[in-house]
Amino acid sequence: MKIDAVLSPTELPALAQRDLRETVCVVFDVLRATSTFVTALRNGAKEITPVSEISEALAIKKNQSDVLLGGERNGLKISAAQTGGINFDLGNSPREYAPEKVRGKTIVSTTTNGTRALRACASAKMILAASFLNLNAVAKFLRQNPEARNENLLIICAGTRENKADEDILAAGALIELLFKDGVEGTVSDSAKIAQTFYTESKSDLAAVICNSENGRRLLAIPELRDDVKFCLQHDIFPLVAEMKTNGAIHLVH
Ligand code: MLT
Repeated sequence: MKIDAVLSPTELPALAQRDLRETVCVVFDVLRATSTFVTALRNGAKEITPVSEISEALAIKKNQSDVLLGGERNGLKISAAQTGGINFDLGNSPREYAPEKVRGKTIVSTTTNGTRALRACASAKMILAASFLNLNAVAKFLRQNPEARNENLLIICAGTRENKADEDILAAGALIELLFKDGVEGTVSDSAKIAQTFYTESKSDLAAVICNSENGRRLLAIPELRDDVKFCLQHDIFPLVAEMKTNGAIHLVH
């Protein structure tokens, strides 16, 4: 396996120029989009369609009135004032995506970085949405799936606005460590090595580093969102793999 990493969201537009047809992409937006999607699927959501813009989400809702609209701008649920009249059903807090709200539902989500990162690698051979909540399951899947095992692996760190995000780079490093520990052989690019080293240096107290990150501090300062940080830092509570299919919807891999 050849492992590479996109560490900054400023690199996302360049992915459109890259041939990803033989590449497996793993996207991390630990705080919070990919943690939220994994939670929604765990709680019975049928699928999640990530879109970059609010207008795209509204256009889907116009044709499919039964979808739930989810996502955030500046961390908060998207309001009627931002859409010209429609309040979104859900924000981007994983704790909102409870079974009674999401079971059987299609969710269309737009967030500042996470959904943009997922859309940026839409041409890849395989795209997984990952988080600390399901990290081991993703590593196991990559190790065991013949389609993934021998491929180029590109780990995409969604970041915070236009900046790199510690929590995403740490998750990338943790995934690389798990893959090598589990016997995957491969080479790592310089940027993947940066993620690996950062994780090795920080793993004794990941929570401290992440609580001090830009997005960690921002969420901790919003009383109704502060518990999301603790939630998203849980390791391996959901043994599932979430894949974005060619139709753009994220599903559970069975
Ligand atoms: C994003 O997609 O930028 C994030 O998930 C932001 C957040 O809701 O914390």
